[in-house]
Amino acid sequence: MIPSQSSSFSSIVVTLYFFFFFLFSFILHALASPKLQYCRHDQRDALLEFKHEFPMNLTHRWGDYDMRSWNKRSDCCSWKGLECDAEGQVISLFLFDVPFNNSLKPNSSLFKLQYLQNLTLFACNLHGEIPSSFGNLSHLTKLDLPYNELVGQVPASIGNLTQLRYLDLSYNNLSGKFSVSFANLTKLLSLYVNDNYFEPELLPDMSRFHNLEDFDVSGNSFVGPFPTSLFTIPSLQWVDLGRNHFKGHIGFGNISLSSRLHALSFAGNKFDGPIPESISKFLNLEILDFSNNSFSGPFPTSLLTIPSLQYVNLAENQFKGHLDFGNASSSSSLTILDLANNKFDGPIPESISKLFNLGELDLSNNKLEGAVPGCLWRLSSLRLSHNSFSRFGKPTAVLHQAHMHELRLDSNSFRGPFPQWICKYRSLRFLDMSNNGFIGSIPPCLGNSTESLQVLNLRNNNFSGILPDMFVNAASLMTLDVGRNQLEGKIPKSLINCKYIELLNLGSNKFEDNFPSWLGSLPSLKVLILRSNQFYGPLYHRHISIGFQKLRVIDVSCNYFTGTFPAFYFSKWPEMTATLNAEDDDTYMENFMNHTGYYRDSMEMVNKGVYTEFEKIRTDFIAIDLSGNRFCGKIPESIGLLKRLHLLNLSGNAFTSNIPQSLANLTTLEALDLSRNKLSGQIPRDLGILSFLSIMDFSHNNLEGPIPRGTQFQRQNCSSFMDNPKLYGLEEICGKTHVPNFTPQESEELSEPEEQVINWIAAAIAYGPGVFCGLVIGYIFVSHKQEWFVEKFSRNKPRIIIRSAR
Ligand SMILES: *[C@@H]1O[C@H](CO)[C@@H](O)[C@H](O)[C@H]1NC(C)=O
Ligand SMILES: *[C@@H]1O[C@H](CO)[C@@H](O)[C@H](O)[C@H]1NC(C)=O
Ligand SMILES: *[C@@H]1O[C@H](CO)[C@@H](O)[C@H](O)[C@H]1NC(C)=O
Ligand SMILES: *[C@@H]1O[C@H](CO)[C@@H](O)[C@H](O)[C@H]1NC(C)=O
Ligand SMILES: *[C@@H]1O[C@H](CO)[C@@H](O)[C@H](O)[C@H]1NC(C)=O
Ligand SMILES: *[C@@H]1O[C@H](CO)[C@@H](O)[C@H](O)[C@H]1NC(C)=O
Ligand SMILES: *[C@@H]1O[C@H](CO)[C@@H](O)[C@H](O)[C@H]1NC(C)=O
Ligand SMILES: *[C@@H]1O[C@H](CO)[C@@H](O)[C@H](O)[C@H]1NC(C)=O
Ligand SMILES: *[C@@H]1O[C@H](CO)[C@@H](O)[C@H](O)[C@H]1NC(C)=O
Ligand SMILES: *[C@@H]1O[C@H](CO)[C@@H](O)[C@H](O)[C@H]1NC(C)=O
Ligand SMILES: *[C@@H]1O[C@H](CO)[C@@H](O)[C@H](O)[C@H]1NC(C)=O
Ligand SMILES: *[C@@H]1O[C@H](CO)[C@@H](O)[C@H](O)[C@H]1NC(C)=O
Repeated sequence: MIPSQSSSFSSIVVTLYFFFFFLFSFILHALASPKLQYCRHDQRDALLEFKHEFPMNLTHRWGDYDMRSWNKRSDCCSWKGLECDAEGQVISLFLFDVPFNNSLKPNSSLFKLQYLQNLTLFACNLHGEIPSSFGNLSHLTKLDLPYNELVGQVPASIGNLTQLRYLDLSYNNLSGKFSVSFANLTKLLSLYVNDNYFEPELLPDMSRFHNLEDFDVSGNSFVGPFPTSLFTIPSLQWVDLGRNHFKGHIGFGNISLSSRLHALSFAGNKFDGPIPESISKFLNLEILDFSNNSFSGPFPTSLLTIPSLQYVNLAENQFKGHLDFGNASSSSSLTILDLANNKFDGPIPESISKLFNLGELDLSNNKLEGAVPGCLWRLSSLRLSHNSFSRFGKPTAVLHQAHMHELRLDSNSFRGPFPQWICKYRSLRFLDMSNNGFIGSIPPCLGNSTESLQVLNLRNNNFSGILPDMFVNAASLMTLDVGRNQLEGKIPKSLINCKYIELLNLGSNKFEDNFPSWLGSLPSLKVLILRSNQFYGPLYHRHISIGFQKLRVIDVSCNYFTGTFPAFYFSKWPEMTATLNAEDDDTYMENFMNHTGYYRDSMEMVNKGVYTEFEKIRTDFIAIDLSGNRFCGKIPESIGLLKRLHLLNLSGNAFTSNIPQSLANLTTLEALDLSRNKLSGQIPRDLGILSFLSIMDFSHNNLEGPIPRGTQFQRQNCSSFMDNPKLYGLEEICGKTHVPNFTPQESEELSEPEEQVINWIAAAIAYGPGVFCGLVIGYIFVSHKQEWFVEKFSRNKPRIIIRSAR
């Protein structure tokens, strides 16, 4: 057909010919397409009625979903979320995040859409019960109602939906009995009823669901033994029984070898006993989560023979013995392995190098020891916290290509110098080497890794020398903790670049410097701890602005600071004087939680036979500790402006004159220590009205007059008023003998800091001559959430009070 002449005219003809050919065939095609079928009017009217059943104005855009197209002007088959068949009958309705905010009535026009095959109302804020009228939608193959607030029982009429293959009712508040609601839906391929409130019961005989592929009942309260019948279904692909009360041994005796199962979770139950070798029959398993049960026995090496496995989580069980990767398939796909919180011991065998694809390894909280194999330095996340590892194998990988972003070596027995290859990591975000025996200097090359660092924790080692000036690029740093080392010299000036730093702990070192007023310009700094160093000079300079816009906790105790404070001094601390800003409080400390991950839970605290009570630091915790210095002059009257202060320790200084009356304005104050100063005059009577004030100490001053009456005062220990020769009215307080409830042995133990247990931010409890030094703040991790605790000060028995949270 195509002419063979080569004139320009004929090429135009050819072009036009093709143009019309394509246009024509397009029109033909379009006419033949079922898409252009017009919506049946009864269907359209039912849909519009349905839309108007809800109180919300759905004529404008809501959330992620737009129902504006639902109007009479257009064909309903073209409305958003709809699909029609060739006869113009609605066969599919998909709505996501439309705020219906109402219940579905039994007479809802939705149930007039008789031809519906697929119905999805995902996160539509539906309330009330599921109406039994769903039984009318007899063509339904897919019913998808997750993330609503549906309550009550699943209506029996659902059992009439014989075509139903896919049922998702997850994330609602449904109750009733699973065995009644779903027993007859044996043709289902997918059943998701997770995160509801179904009654505690045994799962029924599941083998009748012969086509079941995906099954999720997690987050309910099912009980009983391992549901063996479930695993006889050959079509099974995805099973989640997590967060229920299943218990006992597991066994897969009769499963077919050709199982298609690729994901299996039993997490958060009470299964026990060993993992049977038969698990390796799941030849296509990719994801396995058995965490948080009571499984025991040796490391289940048979798992490693499954070449498709990518994710294995056995954390929080009772496994013990040596690790063994000898069985690992040479084609292993394992990428994430979590064995944390078990009782594994011995070394990590070199055979772990067989897991060539391994990216993340968590062995925290075991009893492992020996060297860390060199092949692990190429991982992206390595958590070895709370073991007894003592040394490092030589890196076997090209480290500058490594993408390690998380390295936790804390609370082990590492000795020796800083492992310099860490400097080669360029995407490191968390580096925790705290609570080890590292010695020598902190290498300046670490400055090459600081660009990405968010948390650098070197606390409680024996690092010495200066803290290198390595923070020029540390713009992401949020936490820098080098407390409890032997660092000396001045504070590195490059810290000024850490615009996001929230916590800076330099406590319990040998730093010798002026007060770093220049840190006052750091816009995010919330916690500053300089305690127990050799800082000197005044805190306040007339010509330097005070700054510290976000400061909430300052501990400069036990240094050589001197000088006086002007009366207005504290009025310049906006964060402490401001009234509570709820929004900000939500993110305070949560940041640390997010960026420091999780370590261990609070149960450990009682393990050493020491009963320590902690006070959880509320997110708005505010404290000032200036104790054990040489401050003098009057306590600034502006202290009364720190409306949100919880703890004030000015003891062991040389403050003179009267106790400011304005202290009585600190209505949130819980602990006040003014002891060991040269204060004179009377104790302000109004302090008695501070209802939260539970600990006070006025001892070793020149106070005079009567001890104010009132329960807050009467509750104090006699020693809180000692050595004030002109103070009177002590008989009432000191008459009552106030014997602490500790045996002598316990008291001794109590004076040992519990550092295995708590990640102290502040340094060891140091006893200067008669001065109990500083504020002790710790943080622990309770079920993956960081919680902060403060030790309420006391001199002889570091008594720490926990009030359980919320
Ligand atoms: C619903 O919203 C539209 C667009 O915002 C507005 O024009 C209409 O008046 C509203 N209707 C009602 C009943 O509030
Ligand atoms: C949903 O309804 C409840 C009361 O039934 C009401 O308090 C709430 O504000 C409504 N939500 C929206 C988004 O309108
Ligand atoms: C359900 O179907 C029955 C019989 O087919 C009918 O009488 C009833 O009105 C229908 N219910 C709804 C809500 O459409
Ligand atoms: C549905 O029933 C309620 C009473 O339960 C009634 O108020 C409402 O008008 C009915 N709606 C329709 C569409 O029939
Ligand atoms: C209904 O959903 C199933 C599974 O998601 C899908 O295969 C099918 O094509 C859908 N049918 C319609 C009519 O949308
Ligand atoms: C659903 O359960 C949650 C958690 O128990 C509860 O906060 C919520 O109020 C419940 N909603 C309804 C509609 O019952
Ligand atoms: C199921 O369907 C049958 C026949 O249509 C009907 O008689 C029965 O009432 C329905 N059951 C439920 C629970 O709706
Ligand atoms: C299940 O089906 C059987 C037989 O068809 C019937 O007797 C029984 O009532 C049904 N159970 C439920 C809960 O609908
Ligand atoms: C498993 O197989 C054994 C014998 O082969 C049989 O006795 C037992 O009933 C089977 N168990 C199940 C749950 O099918
Ligand atoms: C940082 O890395 C560069 C290039 O890799 C190197 O030349 C330099 O010495 C390193 N800096 C420090 C302080 O080690
Ligand atoms: C902490 O993480 C949670 C969940 O990942 C997130 O919702 C929250 O916004 C984060 N908070 C901060 C302060 O980054
Ligand atoms: C305490 O606060 C009140 C009201 O905020 C103020 O009037 C008073 O002067 C303050 N008292 C002292 C002693 O600062």
